[in-house]
Amino acid sequence: QLASLDASKLTVTKTQTPKELTPNKDLVFGKTFTDHMISIEWTAEDGWHTPRIVPYQNLSLDPSTCVFHYAFECFEGMKAYKDKTGGTRLFRPNKNMERLNKSSARIALPKFDGDELVKLIGEFVKLEDRFIPDARGYSLYLRPTMIGTQKTLGVGPPGSALLFVIASPVGPYYPTGFKAISLEATDYAVRAWPGGVGDKKLGANYAPCILPQLEAASRGFQQNLWLFGEEEYVTEVGTMNLFIALKNKETGKKELITAPLDGTILEGVTRDSVLALAREKLEPQGWVISERKIRMSDVAEAAEEGRMIEVFGAGTAAIVSPVRNISYRGKLVDCGLKKEEEAGEIALQMKNWIESIQHGDEAHEWSHVV
Ligand code: COI
Repeated sequence: QLASLDASKLTVTKTQTPKELTPNKDLVFGKTFTDHMISIEWTAEDGWHTPRIVPYQNLSLDPSTCVFHYAFECFEGMKAYKDKTGGTRLFRPNKNMERLNKSSARIALPKFDGDELVKLIGEFVKLEDRFIPDARGYSLYLRPTMIGTQKTLGVGPPGSALLFVIASPVGPYYPTGFKAISLEATDYAVRAWPGGVGDKKLGANYAPCILPQLEAASRGFQQNLWLFGEEEYVTEVGTMNLFIALKNKETGKKELITAPLDGTILEGVTRDSVLALAREKLEPQGWVISERKIRMSDVAEAAEEGRMIEVFGAGTAAIVSPVRNISYRGKLVDCGLKKEEEAGEIALQMKNWIESIQHGDEAHEWSHVV
C-alpha cells in the first residue's frame, strides 16, 4: 500500500537565521526568497513520505540525477495575497493543483492529492506571514516544483521524486503602472505543437523560448507572439496567454478572442478567470466571448480596417500585459491604444476585477482563505 500525501503528518523545522525583509520598493520578481520551504519526497516503493517545512536551503543531488539529463521537471506559479483584515488568501489554488498533476503525470512523475498540498501551502504561507507584502498588487509568489531524483542515466520513469515549494515576495509587474509592450510575430520558432506538451507547465517548454526572445529584443521587441502553422494562428505571447478584442468583420459585434485549449495552449488560471469574468460582465453588454483560432493575417486586417479594440497577455505574474503593436511581415500592426495610453479598457477592468478578488475585497468562490 503506497502512502498518499497527508498534510496532517507535517513536521516543521524553523530557521535559526531569519532573513532581513526586502523593502517593497526594492522587490524584483523571483530574486529573494522566504526563510523556509516545503519539501516532500516520493519513492516508488513507499509513495509520499512525510511532508516537511524546513529552512530554505540548497538541494544536494548526485550529478547523475535524472532531472539534470532528461528534464523531469514541472512547476506552478501561484500567489498568496493579504486582505484588508490582515488575513491571507490564495487565488483558485485547486486549478494549480489540477494542472501540476497533469504536468507531472505527463513526464512519468507521481500524482498527489491536491487538497493536501493546498493545506500544506496554507501552513507554509502562515509561517512566512511577515514576507507577504501588505499592499495592493503585492503578493507572495509561490513556486511548487516537482523533479525526478533517481540517480541513473537510464531513460525510464523516475523511481523517486521531490516535490518542493519555495516563495518569493513580489511587487506589481509594472511598478510605475502599465507599460504597453511591442511584440514580434514569430514564425521561425514554434513554442508548442499538436500532440506536444505545450499545454503542460514543464520547465523544458521555457528554456527554448529564450533565444527567440533575445532575437526579438535585439530588434526592439519585448516579447514573441508565437504563431503556429501555415495559417499563422496566434497562440501565446511570451509566457502568457493572449487576448484580442476586435469588432467582428461579419457580425460587427465586439468580440474578445483567445486561442482554444487544443493541446498547444497553456491552461492559464488567469486565462480562465478572464474568460469567466468576460462572460459574466461583458457578454451582457453585447460582447461575444470566443475561444477560437484566429490567423495573424486576420489580426492585421482588423487593425487596417479600424476594427481593432485592444490586445493583452494574461498570466499569474503580471495579471494582464497590454500590447501596443505587433511586428508582422515587416509592418507594425497597431493594437488600438491611443498614443498616451498604456492599457486598454478591457485589460484595466480585468486587472481591477481580478486583483479585488485576489485581495478579498469582496467574497468570491475563487478566493481561498488559509
Ligand atoms: C506567468 O505569466 O505567470 C508565467 O507563467 C511566468 C512565469 C513562468 C514566471
